[in-house]
Amino acid sequence: MSRLILIFFVLASCAPKASNSENSLAEISDSEVMQFAIPGKALYENYCANCHQSDGEGLGKLIPPLKNADYFKASIPRTVWIMRNGMKGEVKVNGEIYSQDMPGNPQLKPLEIAQISTYLYNIWGMKEGVITSSMVEDFLKNEPEELN
Ligand code: HEC
Repeated sequence: MSRLILIFFVLASCAPKASNSENSLAEISDSEVMQFAIPGKALYENYCANCHQSDGEGLGKLIPPLKNADYFKASIPRTVWIMRNGMKGEVKVNGEIYSQDMPGNPQLKPLEIAQISTYLYNIWGMKEGVITSSMVEDFLKNEPEELN
């Protein structure tokens, strides 16, 4: 009996999450954005979702959210910098302090960072359009003044 209840709760809590992440591309109508966002979603699943989760909600007090996150929304150049170089020390996201380190991704090419950024900034109600690899190259030249 208790086993059945457990199975029920596991299914109930997993099902909505899985369908949300599958539908994230459905928000995008612009075909140029879509060309970046499709590979961007696959790269996000490989390089980011282990921590930030497919639905972008983060993980408890350890990993900050990206979805509806004030810090994430405030600056595309800063996000691009963080993807490549990682992040140390404390950061405040939606009023919560996080203090685990995020490793950098020196292997990610500007085009790949552009694809991930285009994906992330055109879902969850945002519509920032295509973020190109030459924009990414520019953003990577200047370390943001305030990371934390
Ligand atoms: C190993 C886990 C891990 C992976 C993988 C990871 N991050 Fe993070 N990320 C973190 C942690 C932890 C922080 C908070 C860092 C701090 O406190 O200084 C963070 C912070 C951030 C922030 C700033 C805070 C916020 O929530 O707005 C952004 C943006 C971000 N990550 C995006 C990404 C993207 C995009 C990827 C994939 C390229 C990625 N991260 C991969 C763990 C991770």
